Amino acid sequence: MESSYFKRFRMEADLAVRRQSGLPSGCRPDLPPGCRPGLPSGYRFVAWNDALIDVHARTKYRAFRDEIDATVFPCLGELEGCRRLMREIRGKSGFLPHASWLIAWGRSPEELTWCGTIQAVCERPMVGMIQNVGVVPEHRGRGLGAALVQQAMLAFREYGLRRASLEVTVQNDRAVDLYHRLGFRRSRTVYKLVDLPTPAIGVAAR
Ligand SMILES: CC(C)(COP(=O)(O)OP(=O)(O)OC[C@H]1O[C@@H](n2cnc3c(N)ncnc32)[C@H](O)[C@@H]1OP(=O)(O)O)[C@@H](O)C(=O)NCCC(=O)NCCS
Repeated sequence: MESSYFKRFRMEADLAVRRQSGLPSGCRPDLPPGCRPGLPSGYRFVAWNDALIDVHARTKYRAFRDEIDATVFPCLGELEGCRRLMREIRGKSGFLPHASWLIAWGRSPEELTWCGTIQAVCERPMVGMIQNVGVVPEHRGRGLGAALVQQAMLAFREYGLRRASLEVTVQNDRAVDLYHRLGFRRSRTVYKLVDLPTPAIGVAAR
């Protein structure tokens, strides 16, 4: 078994600052209080409910199983691992239910598809930390990822928090770009040592 270091950025955004950006309409970081981020037609936000914990786990699994973070955090590549992770997040004393959401698509029960998931916790004073944001592959590129992060940031403001924080694997360009557009900036760099069962995947220096 080989090991490899994966470079990760801690990124943070100031929740008090209002910025302009080139985001699609309804996906701006400067939403006025009470205004929810817009979703494309047919999609809707579903608020946290303990009965939906397994839906979060399954949606997380479908979003992460083929992605770099399933290598960095092997639990994300297994349904049981995602279930365990969801129970851990839910059990944290700083779990923030109002910043944890699903996105569903479909107007009838037959059509219902779970498309995206996000959870958040507060473990440092005044800082909301996004745990995992994931959108299933068939529904990417429509603004759902941005809307989930904005929905969590809106809740952070409603909780009275000052900063939003998250960690992202540097190789995950799409996620890094998304967070950057939403006002997150790198605050520190960390390295995660991972045991790789197969020949090492190269760590791109950046
Ligand atoms: C990262 C991730 C959450 C982004 O989700 P997404 O729904 O595709 O994100 P968005 O649609 O909001 O933004 C992504 C892109 O779509 C574009 N976009 C947004 N709304 C759009 C629309 N209405 N029409 C076309 N494109 C749109 C954005 O400009 C952005 O462009 P880019 O491809 O040049 O970056 C998703 O790729 C994912 O789940 N990845 C796997 C899990 C993961 O790595 N999560 C992050 C862990 S830190």
